[in-house]
Amino acid sequence: MTLCDLRPWLVRAQREQYAIGAFNANTLEQVQAIVLAAEAEQSPAVIQVSHRALQYIGSGDQMLGLEYVAAVGKVAAQSVSVPIALHLDHANGDEVRRAIALGFTSVMFDGSLLPYAENVATTRLLSDEARAADVCMEAELGEVPKPGVSDDTEALTDPAEAEAFVAATGIDSLAVALGSMHAVTEKHVSIDLERLRAIRAVVAAPLVLHGSSGVLDGEIAAGIRMGLCKINVATQLNKVFTLAARAKLVDDTTVVDPRKYLGPARTAMIDGVRERIRFFGSSGKAKS
Ligand code: G3H
Ligand code: ZN
Repeated sequence: MTLCDLRPWLVRAQREQYAIGAFNANTLEQVQAIVLAAEAEQSPAVIQVSHRALQYIGSGDQMLGLEYVAAVGKVAAQSVSVPIALHLDHANGDEVRRAIALGFTSVMFDGSLLPYAENVATTRLLSDEARAADVCMEAELGEVPKPGVSDDTEALTDPAEAEAFVAATGIDSLAVALGSMHAVTEKHVSIDLERLRAIRAVVAAPLVLHGSSGVLDGEIAAGIRMGLCKINVATQLNKVFTLAARAKLVDDTTVVDPRKYLGPARTAMIDGVRERIRFFGSSGKAKS
């Protein structure tokens, strides 16, 4: 299929109390793993790339990275029969505009480190541009810490501010800071479910959980029942991918062909994405 509009899928998922997985990709094999897993589970899914992935893919040039990802994402979506959205995550304004022009179907402007008024003003401008292009617009309020970039674990989303932010910006989905952190390699983090309940009571827009890799599964499940309907997963799947490649390289130290270790890594990541899709409850939800 051609890349899908994520908005109706998020609305439906929230209504039916399941979540769409948004899976980060850094390599071609990871893009393939995401769409093949979605196809196997007959689930909608999101291929997601971060600012830093774009730098890597474009060899230091994010805009070149965006062009690569736009092209690969379209081919990957067309190779399967289930709805696949292509999302730009944690981006600045220039990247958001370029992604919209290149055919991404979902974008996130990350103004979480900006003063509130500036975050609102910039998000509003970009949100209007995204709407005109029929692209889903996500933004963050509060802060989900990123190692080496920001580490404020106290900047959780305030429900009243969230209500005002969504009304003022016209965004389609809101990333909420509930205590999760990016890039945690073991599941031990709890999230503030009471805060989520209070946000959901005043915000009708779909809600997004970032940094899910470190969050305890029981808490993710409870959060989905309470309105989280896009769950971002990066580190958990990078770990699966890398462990499989490492196992192959350790097992056979004569290997020089990258296909011999990237192939098993792709296979392992397919299994990892399928497990998350089943856990999020979106298996079999590809039919509209
Ligand atoms: O931006 C990335 C996502 O929020 C996933 O975070 O690596 O902690 O799973 P994660
Ligand atoms: Zn994130």
